[in-house]
Formats: sequence, structure tokens, C-alpha cells
Amino acid sequence: MIPNQWYPVYESRRLRKRSVALQRLGERLVLWRNDVGRAVGMRDRCPHRGVALSLGRVRAGRIECPFHGFQFDASGRCQLMPCEGPDARIPAGMEVPTYEIREAHGLVWLFWGKAREALPEIPWFDELVDRPGGGSIAKEWPINYARTIESNFDLHHTPFVHGRWTPGIGTRIDRYHVEVDGLHIKTRGELRKENASKGIPFRVEFLPPCITLLEITPKLRFVLADCPIDAHRTWRCGRYYQDFLRWPRLQNAASWLFLQLDWALFQLPQDLRVMETQDPQQPADHVDRLVAADGGTAAYQKQRRRLLAEAETAREKAGESRAAPLREVSAGP
Ligand code: FES
Ligand SMILES: [Fe+2]
Repeated sequence: MIPNQWYPVYESRRLRKRSVALQRLGERLVLWRNDVGRAVGMRDRCPHRGVALSLGRVRAGRIECPFHGFQFDASGRCQLMPCEGPDARIPAGMEVPTYEIREAHGLVWLFWGKAREALPEIPWFDELVDRPGGGSIAKEWPINYARTIESNFDLHHTPFVHGRWTPGIGTRIDRYHVEVDGLHIKTRGELRKENASKGIPFRVEFLPPCITLLEITPKLRFVLADCPIDAHRTWRCGRYYQDFLRWPRLQNAASWLFLQLDWALFQLPQDLRVMETQDPQQPADHVDRLVAADGGTAAYQKQRRRLLAEAETAREKAGESRAAPLREVSAGP
């Protein structure tokens, strides 16, 4: 996992009044909303005696531990220990490590890195800014997140893995262009039959650490967020952007249905069956023998190696440990 990046961890619409327990980036997290509705993310562990805070209630802008009722504010500081009385001095260390959390584009984002003055921008595609997407769905995949991202660039598996549902589709990737514009990887090409002059055009673009745009036709785009749960599992959230249906409710319903069908017919029985045999499960440097049609995957692997190396150099320079990069508890909410 690449440090110092914004990762999408949850769908905003699902985070309501109750706290939510999540596992992301190898950590147990609790998400909740404070009294002004701001999303808060912290380690899901009470510093008193280790219970999951996510089992507790949110009361007056604080999260209350279910075990002894200690209350913690949005900065992670303990504000009340009922067993010690309202005037008790809060001991040092009675605090929960918190993360930087933002909401944008219908998602809750977590900054996985060291606190800094200026945080980077949340990665998103300009062409989709201010554009409401159709309904999204999120699923857990038992696959390493870098492998699921590689699969987003991979159109040439379609006739083999999904041949039953896509009869007659070509096997050749052609007129294939890969461009790297800063951190933005842009690919486009056609999937065509060997002797046909025209094929099915596609466009796949990527922004690190884990956002992919897939265009099947200019009227139908698909965004995928692939957030690591841990080294072996990925939270995949997909959303359609389409220009066929005008009414938002119909758009949402159609997107939801598309995504459910895609999951049930293609991804679970077909993609997953093949991908879970990939060796190694977690991509290792220069192990796969990539070909020209894997240009997007190659660009992604190269970018990932570079960002990991840069983060490692920065960490060594700062003399920091390799532990999960939590934000230090700050002075106020
Ligand atoms: S374990 Fe949380 S208050 Fe005791
Ligand atoms: Fe597939």
C-alpha cells in the first residue's frame, strides 16, 4: 500500500447516525459523524481496555465506548470517564489515534499518511467533477488490490473469461495507446477480431492510488475505487455514469441493476475464478511477463514501484518507523 495518499474507504450515503466498523488498509477503523455531520475516522479500539468503539453510541458529537462509557471527541481525546466522575483528570494517553477524513464525489476518503500542512488533492477525473453518477455498489473481493487494479486495464481477457456472454467478440487489442500525464495514466484502444478493420473501442484511465475510469461508449462510463482491506482483500466500489436515461431515479435503479448483474454473472463466477489463482497474489516486481496489450498494467506497475520507492525514501529521510501512518492526535476537532 502506498503511503501519503487519499484512499476511498466507504460510500458517503451509507454513513449516517450510527458508527460503522470497517477494515481498510490493514487497520480496524470506526467511522462516525460528529454533531455537525462531519465524518470522523479513528482506530476502532478504546484505549481504556481495548474494546471496539464501533459497538458504542454516538452522543452529542462524541463516540461512547460500549464497555465503560468513556467518551471521545472527533480529535480522539477522551472527554468523559463516568467511573471517575465529571471532574476527573484525563490521564495522558487516553486518546484514540485518528485519521484525516474528507468527503467528496459521494465517497468518504481517508488520508493514509503522516499529518502535513498541505495535503494532496483527492484524486478524481475532471470529466466527472460535478456530475452525479448513478447508484453505486460496493463488494469485497478476496484479491490483492493491486491485482484488481491491473484487471481494470485488462480488456483482452473478455473473450476468454466472459466468452459465454460475449460470443463473437474479438481477441486482438489494437490501435492501443498508453500515455502517462503526470500521475494520470490514459489508455485507449480497440478490441477487434483478427481480420476485422474495426473493433470495439474502449478507454481506461487511472489516478493513484486506486481510482479507475472505464469508458465502454462515450455514453457509458464506469468508475471503480479499489481500496485495500488488507494484503489479500479489496473493497471495490463501482458506479456508472450514463447518458441513456434522463431521470435520476431511473438512472440509479438501472446502474444498481447493471452492477448487480455484472457482479453476479461476470465478476464472481468468471473473473474471480481465474484471478484467485494468480501467482503471486500480491504483484511482485518484474515477475509477470507483460506484452504490448498489457501497456496499461505495465504503466500502473511502474507508477506503483515509483510511488512506493518515493514514500520509502521520504520515510527514511524523516527517520520515521514503518508502522501504519496514523495522524497524531490534534488539539481540537
Ligand atoms: S474499554 Fe472502553 S471504556 Fe472501558
Ligand atoms: Fe472481467
